[in-house]
Amino acid sequence: MEKTADLTVSAARHARGRGVPRRLPVLTTLCGLLLLAGCAGDSPSALNPGGAGATRVAGLWWLLFWISVAVFAEVMALLVWALVFRRGNARVRHGQPLRFVTIAGAGLPFVILVAVYGVGLRDLAALGDGPGPDAPTVEVTGHKWWWEVRYQGASGATANEIHIPVGERVKVRLRTDDVLHSFWVPQLMPKTDLIAGETRETWLRAERAGSYRGQCAEYCGTQHAHMAFLVVAQPRTDFDAWLARLDAPAREPRTEAERRGQQAFVQGTCAACHAVRGTGAAGRVGPDLSNVGSRWSLGAGAVPNDAGHLGGWIANAQTVKPGNAMPPQPVDAAQLPDLIAYLRSLE
Ligand code: CUA
Repeated sequence: MEKTADLTVSAARHARGRGVPRRLPVLTTLCGLLLLAGCAGDSPSALNPGGAGATRVAGLWWLLFWISVAVFAEVMALLVWALVFRRGNARVRHGQPLRFVTIAGAGLPFVILVAVYGVGLRDLAALGDGPGPDAPTVEVTGHKWWWEVRYQGASGATANEIHIPVGERVKVRLRTDDVLHSFWVPQLMPKTDLIAGETRETWLRAERAGSYRGQCAEYCGTQHAHMAFLVVAQPRTDFDAWLARLDAPAREPRTEAERRGQQAFVQGTCAACHAVRGTGAAGRVGPDLSNVGSRWSLGAGAVPNDAGHLGGWIANAQTVKPGNAMPPQPVDAAQLPDLIAYLRSLE
């Protein structure tokens, strides 16, 4: 028994002494590659700012980065100096080490930390300085797992897509319908948590036209990863036109298939949960579908918005995004193409 224990201890020592260090570079490389995988494709980076808020955050990040680089270089230089030039020289003049430790080990870090704290406070104040009372205001409500988007002054609603005019500050009022979520557009603004029973405020401003991906940044359940949204920054005239459409009835069906689809939508189970402006469908449980045909994705970033995915979603959304609030639909196979045609026509 004792011999077995000795063997185990010896094997463990062997593993620690030889195997682990040899595997360490491989593990480090794998971790590095995993981290780099996050930089691929359309992943938005807070270090590639597109607006005033994120520019502040990126500035602070780079300041901290370069301070860290300088401190690291200084420590390494001291280490080399100690190992190469002072090796074996144990005689140190009285009083010298204490002065050095006081200045380089306590005084300098204190000055750096106070300065960084000051810069942080300045940036925090700048981020808290919201737009004026005349700024466009967007009301965003977090649901498990999608974003309801309404505009002050427009009767309609949309989902998972926020349009803003380029170069203007837009006020965003945030509420949650259920659990804690967090509103984050890395390229435009840092995170703001959505807390039950409270209305939080933030703002968005994009310096150039384009799409900026946003993401729920607080774990909120199984489909937290599929709670993405898009901020679309467009010239003021385009934004005004888009907002006007959000206030008008949805596009009328133009083909026979679209007409049949509308009828199936309004008279079937869809209308119990979804709304389409200008029709009898006025459900408020799920997203308003008045412009669903023009949206960037289905299921808040779960799948692309095309006819195939839309059909799959209608028939059984649970296979696409398990756990979401939409149950499988008993849709007639002959009705499905009409429903797809109608919903795709809503732009
Ligand atoms: Cu909502 Cu995570």
